[in-house]
Amino acid sequence: MKINLANIKKAKKLLNNDECVAIPTETVYGLAGNAYSDKASNKIFKLKKRPKNNPLIVHYHNYKDLEKDCYYNDHFLKLYKIFCPGPITFILDLKNKSKISKIVTNKKNTLAVRFPKHPISRKLLKELKFPLAAPSANLSSKVSAVCSSDVKEDFGNKIKYILEGGKSSIGLESTIIDLRNKPKILRLGGLDTLAIKKILNKQIKIFNNPVKISAPGQSRLHYSPGIPIRFNVKKVKKDEAYVLIKKRKKTKSNYFFLSKKGDLEEVAKNLYSTLRKIKKYKYKSIAIGKIPNKGLGKTVNDRIIRASKF
Ligand code: TXA
Ligand code: MG
Repeated sequence: MKINLANIKKAKKLLNNDECVAIPTETVYGLAGNAYSDKASNKIFKLKKRPKNNPLIVHYHNYKDLEKDCYYNDHFLKLYKIFCPGPITFILDLKNKSKISKIVTNKKNTLAVRFPKHPISRKLLKELKFPLAAPSANLSSKVSAVCSSDVKEDFGNKIKYILEGGKSSIGLESTIIDLRNKPKILRLGGLDTLAIKKILNKQIKIFNNPVKISAPGQSRLHYSPGIPIRFNVKKVKKDEAYVLIKKRKKTKSNYFFLSKKGDLEEVAKNLYSTLRKIKKYKYKSIAIGKIPNKGLGKTVNDRIIRASKF
């Protein structure tokens, strides 16, 4: 996608004035504000209706910019070298002298950091003198936004500006890994944990039980389209929307396909927009067929289980 410099300039001006701007990333859209500013950070929580105890991810252009805010270690550098910019978020120790707003961290001494790959947000981050705190640009506990119209749907004119960046190429949030002690995964996401294990060359614990809450934001109410979901469904009920990973020759008006041939990356990319579409069509409930529990399929299943706790 071509970078429109006038749009970047507009976003920059608003962000410099403590306003919030929705930004495209390769995972999902973010609702961004100056991470060093209490005022901007407060606005993010208010707009999203997000509980204050759920800290935000801070987005940087590169790891050099991070040095004034966080300590990092060899595990970080190894993963950074291979996967960044990209769909991985690191939990690191915060430096005492860091200027990150206490509102962003909920006064914790750790920070979640990420280096998004989307060229438009990278250009914006490069231009700014501060990192961007940005949760997913959806109302708290609802389905994340993967295009500008999703963001509009949730926030209307309450957001001053949405930086257009097309549809997010991954469509699922980043994988979160805590690197402070023994590496552990706190949220499955757009980067397969097997790839991470390979690079670190060790087993990594996954603390991602969708029923137990591990990260503060991993509440069971997350990612909900606002209507009941059943999963692993073979037989759809009358009036239910039926979501399948692979296109079928015989289809019906209530069938929704996440991909042509069952490719899990395509499935991931289309999951959230399909859930939003079904809600818009006023279905009262959703049935989802079996999704293979491997690669990105694991993250897709994780999100569906959480969404089904409606
Ligand atoms: O792909 C993504 O990660 C997107 C894009 C916009 O970057 N962002 C995103 O943010 O998904 P959000 O706020 O929807 O989810 C961030 C998660 C929450 O579950 C939060 O609790 C967790 O990260 N988190 C933030 N800071 C943390 C910390 N210091 N320790 C543990 N978990 C943390
Ligand atoms: Mg979110």
